[in-house]
Amino acid sequence: MARFDLLTCCLQALLALALIAAGTFLPSQAQDPSRLSLSYYSKTCPTVQDIVRSEMDCAVKANPRNAAFIIRLHFHDCFVQGCDGSVLLDDTAILIGEKHADQSANSLQGFELVDKIKEKVEAECPGVVSCADLLAIAARDATLLVGGPYWDVPVGRLDSKTASVDLANSDIPTPQQNLATLIAKFLEKGLSVTDMVALVGSHTVGMSRCVNFRDRIYGGDFLLTSKNEPASQLHLAKLKEVCPADGGDDNVAGLDYYSPSVFDNAFFESLLQGSGVLNSDQEMYSSFLSFQTSHIVDKYWADPEAFFKDFADGMVKMGNITNPEGGEVRKNCRFINT
Ligand code: HEM
Ligand SMILES: *[C@@H]1O[C@H](CO)[C@@H](O)[C@H](O)[C@H]1NC(C)=O
Repeated sequence: MARFDLLTCCLQALLALALIAAGTFLPSQAQDPSRLSLSYYSKTCPTVQDIVRSEMDCAVKANPRNAAFIIRLHFHDCFVQGCDGSVLLDDTAILIGEKHADQSANSLQGFELVDKIKEKVEAECPGVVSCADLLAIAARDATLLVGGPYWDVPVGRLDSKTASVDLANSDIPTPQQNLATLIAKFLEKGLSVTDMVALVGSHTVGMSRCVNFRDRIYGGDFLLTSKNEPASQLHLAKLKEVCPADGGDDNVAGLDYYSPSVFDNAFFESLLQGSGVLNSDQEMYSSFLSFQTSHIVDKYWADPEAFFKDFADGMVKMGNITNPEGGEVRKNCRFINT
């Protein structure tokens, strides 16, 4: 039954799109590739926003975690060579992709969903919309569809012809790093401390594997990191159930104790209570240097509108990191064009 509903939902959306597209298609127009704009595809692929939205809508209804996968893919894309679709490239004989990087291997998901959206977009506007733009639009829709803010997505990115597993290993932050290192990694990308706290707020959705929080729950840290209220013994017990001291590395727990399928500000409440699942998340509230960030955490907990606004602004800023090498519009997001 649910499967049938999902199918009709997708088909109806597609039909509506075909009608819109029939009326509005115009020939392509060249634009300055170094600047993103809101109107980049208004002539060449006016339906791209609708296509991405309807595909994301179906995917998130089927599994809300699809929203988390896509938001994270966009982050891992933008932090390596700029937002250029490099994260999507598969390994080939002549190219080493980023999928086996430390923070990505056995962890990033959503690639098939990206393929599916790309296929629909190619069917409508072949060779026009970059995979990097597709991911940026999909990440906005993902956020919106699980209850988060809307923002207009500047577009006009090109897809890279290279990837860098080395840059992925060096530039993507890890849950073991301390606050000073995490801040430095965001500053390097032109993102402020406020941008960082807001963007990490996307951990309000999605899951972490046990391997990424075992040290925190067995190191005794978990119950010691609270400033306000005592961290929940119950939460700790649940996390230990998911994540035994030995084995179960890939078992998952919500990054936000309260509502891991909803984009809200409850993640920040977890941090107030010392119940952040990742050590890197809790660092923002409880570490030696957290005076730089704890007031922002407090603010986002008290004022969800402020979180939503700063998150939207942060996503636009993160999405604005470009790859100076330029590139192409890939036909298949997994491979450079031949
Ligand atoms: C301090 C910087 C960050 C660190 C150390 C970090 C680390 C992590 C880790 C370890 C996971 C769990 C992965 C796994 O166990 O497989 C995760 C998940 C996630 N991250 Fe981050 N992250 C950071 C910043 C961000 C940013 C900036 C975004 C997006 C704007 C983001 C979005 C997500 C999402 C949505 C998930 C859940 C994915 C899922 O459900 O599979 N993260 N992150
Ligand atoms: C995006 O980058 C351009 C320069 O490449 C800059 O002029 C613009 O202000 C940036 N926008 C945002 C929102 O950061």
